[in-house]
Amino acid sequence: MLGLSTVLPSDPVKLITFALCIIGLFLATIFVVAFKPKAGESTTLQAYLKFFYACFVKPHSGDGTGNQQDALESFYKAQAEVYDATRVRLLRGREDLLGLVAAQLKYRTEAGLISQRPVWVDIGGGTGHNVEQMGAFLSVPDFFRAVYIVDLSPSLCSMAEKRFARLGWKNVKVICQDARKFRLHEHEQEARKRKELILRGQIVRDLDENADAGGAELVTMSYALSMVPEFYPVIDSISSLLSPNGVVGVVDFYVQNQVEYQSRNYTGGAIDRHVMWISRVFWRTWFEIDRVNLEAARRDYLEYRFGTVLSINTRNNFFGVKLPYYIWVGCSKETGASSAKLAEIDAAATESPYLSALDLQTGPAQSDIELRSKAYESAIVNLQSSLPLPATWYQNHHWRIHYDDTLLKHTRFNNSYIYAFTWEDDRADARLLKVRPDDVILAITSAGDNILSFALEHPRRIHAVDLNPTQNHLLELKVAAFTALGYSDIWKLFGEGHHANFRDILINKLSPHMSSLAFQHWLSNGTRIFSANKNKGLYYSGGSGNALTLVGWLFRILGLSGEIKKLCAAQTLNEQREIWERSIKSILHSKILTWTVLGNEKWLWKALGVPPAQRDLIEWDHNNMDDFDPEGPFAANTPTNKKDRKKTSEKAQRKSSGHAVYEYVLNTFEPVVTTTLLSTSNHYYLLTLLGHYTPQSHPTYLSPKSHVQLSKPTAFSGLRIHTDEISEVISRMRPNTLTIVVVMDSMDWFPPGGKQAIKQIRGLNRALRVKGRVLLRSAGIEPWYLDVFGELGFSCRRVAVRVPGGCIDRVNMYASTWICTKEVSIEHEDVKASLRKNSMGELKI
Ligand SMILES: C[S@@+](CC[C@H](N)C(=O)[O-])C[C@H]1O[C@@H](n2cnc3c(N)ncnc32)[C@H](O)[C@@H]1O
Ligand SMILES: *[C@@H]1O[C@H](CO)[C@@H](O)[C@H](O)[C@H]1NC(C)=O
Ligand SMILES: *[C@@H]1O[C@H](CO)[C@@H](O)[C@H](O)[C@H]1NC(C)=O
Ligand SMILES: *[C@@H]1O[C@H](CO)[C@@H](O)[C@H](O)[C@H]1NC(C)=O
Repeated sequence: MLGLSTVLPSDPVKLITFALCIIGLFLATIFVVAFKPKAGESTTLQAYLKFFYACFVKPHSGDGTGNQQDALESFYKAQAEVYDATRVRLLRGREDLLGLVAAQLKYRTEAGLISQRPVWVDIGGGTGHNVEQMGAFLSVPDFFRAVYIVDLSPSLCSMAEKRFARLGWKNVKVICQDARKFRLHEHEQEARKRKELILRGQIVRDLDENADAGGAELVTMSYALSMVPEFYPVIDSISSLLSPNGVVGVVDFYVQNQVEYQSRNYTGGAIDRHVMWISRVFWRTWFEIDRVNLEAARRDYLEYRFGTVLSINTRNNFFGVKLPYYIWVGCSKETGASSAKLAEIDAAATESPYLSALDLQTGPAQSDIELRSKAYESAIVNLQSSLPLPATWYQNHHWRIHYDDTLLKHTRFNNSYIYAFTWEDDRADARLLKVRPDDVILAITSAGDNILSFALEHPRRIHAVDLNPTQNHLLELKVAAFTALGYSDIWKLFGEGHHANFRDILINKLSPHMSSLAFQHWLSNGTRIFSANKNKGLYYSGGSGNALTLVGWLFRILGLSGEIKKLCAAQTLNEQREIWERSIKSILHSKILTWTVLGNEKWLWKALGVPPAQRDLIEWDHNNMDDFDPEGPFAANTPTNKKDRKKTSEKAQRKSSGHAVYEYVLNTFEPVVTTTLLSTSNHYYLLTLLGHYTPQSHPTYLSPKSHVQLSKPTAFSGLRIHTDEISEVISRMRPNTLTIVVVMDSMDWFPPGGKQAIKQIRGLNRALRVKGRVLLRSAGIEPWYLDVFGELGFSCRRVAVRVPGGCIDRVNMYASTWICTKEVSIEHEDVKASLRKNSMGELKI
C-alpha cells in the first residue's frame, strides 16, 4: 500500500494528468506505427512527428503576455508546413460540410433567393484548405464574387497566400486578423454602401456601431469555433455578417450530455448526439492541452442564435477511438419567422384561407387556435420565448410539417418503417376516384407510392398523413429525389433498391430538399440499406423487408427458388399458370406445410401484420361464406343483424381460425397468379418474389414519363406531409374543405363498436365537403363500421368485392372496397358557428 502511494501521486488532479500522460504515450506509439513509412514515404512520418512534437511536446505558452495570437503562433509556426498533411484524418467532415453548403447555395441561387454572385467568409480558415477543396463542388473563381479567409495565425495565413497564388484564384483574399474584429464593410464595396444606407436611415440594428449589415451569402467555420477563446462575439458577428438568405456552416468537435439538449425542439433532431460520460471527460481534458475547448455552450449558442437547417452528429474513427464531431448548417433566425410567413405556411397545412398576419404581441385569438396546426402552435411558443423556430420552418420547401419527434407515439416505431412499398393498387384508386384539379386529397402515406401517383394527377393539394415518422421520411426521400435527380438515379434507388453512391447524392444533391430529421435518418440508415450487397437493398429493409426475407427463405427451403424465378419471367398468362400448377401450388397445398407453417396462428398473424380486430373480420366472413351471394343486392347501409353476428362469432371460435387465414391467403394469391401477369402488369407480387422491380413491371411513379412530370419545379407545391394520427390531422382541418380521403384499411383496426371509429367518422364528416368521398378497403366483405358511416351522414357504396377465384385488384389483399360519400353535414351548427367566428377574425384583422 505504502509503496504504491509513493509511486503514484495522491492528488486526484495529478492522478488524471498521470493517466493522460500514459494515454498520450500510447497514442504517440500508434501514430508512429500507423505512419511507418513505406518505401519513399518518409515525408509523412516526418510530418506526423512534427505535428506530434508541436501538439504534445513543445510547450506552447506564447510570450507570456496571454495574447492569443502569440499563443497560436507558438503552436502553429513549427507545423505550418505540415498542417494540411496531418489534418486529413483528424479534421473529418470538412468535405461533407462543403458539399452541404454548396448544395444549399446552388439551390438558393437557382430559386432566386440569392440574386448576385455570393461572398464567402471562412472564419479561422487557416491554410485555405477548405477553399481549395470547395473546387470539388463548384468553380470557386467563377461562382463567388469574393472569398475571405480570416485567420489570426500569420504563419498559416502565409501558407494560404502561397496556395492561392499557386492556384491563381484572384477572388480569394487572406485577412490576418482576429475574427472578432473582422468587418466585411471594410473590404467590400457593396457591404459598405448598405451599411451607410442603414446608418443614414437611422435604423440602428445593433448596439455595435461597427456591425455589418449583411453581405456574406456563406459563412463557414471548420474546427475554428472550438479554438476561439471568446466565441460569443464571433458568433454574434456572423449574425450581422450574413445576408438575409445566406447560409452558415460549422463543423467541429463537441461533447454533450443528453440532459443539455433534450428539451430543445429547434435543434433538428438528436440522432447520435449524446456522448458517453467517459468520452466527454476524456476528450475535453485531452483537447485542453492544445487549447481546444469543447465547452457545450459553443454549439448551443450557435443553435440559439440561428435557425437550424440541417444538423449531423457523428464520430471520427481516429485510430480506433471514436472522436465526436458535428456538422451544422444554419440560416438567419428571422428567415421565415415573420408572422406573415408563418401564417401563410400554416394556412396550407390546415386548408384555412390565408388572411393576414397574426398579432404576435397579443397572442393568437381563440378562433385562430381552433384551426391552427400543432406546428404553428409550437412556432408561437418558441417565438414567445425568443427561441428559434423548429428546424422544419427553416427548410427550403415546406412539405414536411413540424412534429414533436420525442413523443412516445412516434418513437415506438423504433426508427423503422413497416412498409418499404405501398400495398394498395394505385390504378384501381385512380379509376374509382377520378381525381380533378380542384380536389383536396388526404391519404395515408405508407411508402408514399400512391401519394406520388396522386401527384401525377395534379390535384390542388395532397395531405399525406402517417403516425410513423419514418414512413414520411421515405416519402421525403422520394420527393427530394424527384426534385434533384435524373431518371437513372431514381431507378437505381427505387427500382432496384440499390445505389452505390447513396451517401454522396444524399449530401450533394438531396440535402437542400429534405427536413433535418429525414436527412439525419437517411444519413444514419441509408448507406447500409442502399449500398448493401446484391440480395439486400431498400425492399429488404423495414417490416415489409422482413416479410420478403421470410418469403425468400420459405421458397428456398421448399426448393422452389428456381420455379419462382421462372414464374416472374413468364411472358404469357398460360406459361405463368402452368408453372404455378405444376410445382408451386401443389407444394403450398401440401398438408404438412399447412400444418406446420400456416396452421401456426401466432406466426401467421405476425408475418402478415394482421391486428386482432381485422382478424375477427376475416374469421367472421370465413364462417359465413356459404351464405354469401356476391351477385346479391348490396344496398347502401344494409343494416346488420346483430344477433346473427353474435351467433356466428361463437361458431367461429369453434372452427380453427388458422384455417380462415389460410383460406384468405390462398384466395389472395391463387387468383393473382392465374389472372395477372407478374412480369408485365403486377409489380406488387413481382416485388415480393424478386425484391426489386423490373423495367417492364414497376409502380406508375417509376416510369420515365412520370419522371418528366414529377421533376417539374411545381410538382410538389401542393404536398403537405403530416406526422400524426389521421383523426388529429382532420380535426385541425378547416371544415368542409377536403374532397377525397383515402384511409386504406386502417378502419379495420378499430375495435368493433368502439368510440374511436365514431370519432374518426365524425371528424371525416366535418372535414369533408358535401359530396366529398372516403375510399376505404376492408378485409371484411361488409365491415361493421359502415353502419356508423350511414348514421353519420354518409352514403356508402361497395365499388368492388372479392369473389372466390377472382381478383378485386392487382393486390387482391382485401375483400371489399368502399366509397362513402358525404351527403349532409352532421355538425351543421358547430360548423356554422366556427365559420362565423372565423369571419369575425377576418374583420378584426
Ligand atoms: C484547427 S484550425 C482549422 C483551420 C481550417 N479551418 C481547417 O479546417 O483546416 C483553427 C484555426 O482557427 C484560427 N483561429 C483561432 N482563433 C482565432 C481568432 N480569434 N481569430 C481568427 N482565427 C482564429 C487558428 O489560427 C487556426 O488556423
Ligand atoms: C419547444 O421547446 C420550448 C423550450 O423548451 C418549449 O417552451 C416549447 O413548449 C416547446 N414546443 C413544443 C411544441 O414542444
Ligand atoms: C421497438 O423496440 C422495443 C424494445 O426493443 C420493442 O419492445 C418493440 O416491440 C419495438 N417496436 C416495434 C414497432 O418494432
Ligand atoms: C435505422 O437505424 C436504427 C438504428 O440503427 C434501427 O433501429 C432501425 O431499424 C433502422 N431503420 C431501418 C428502416 O432500417
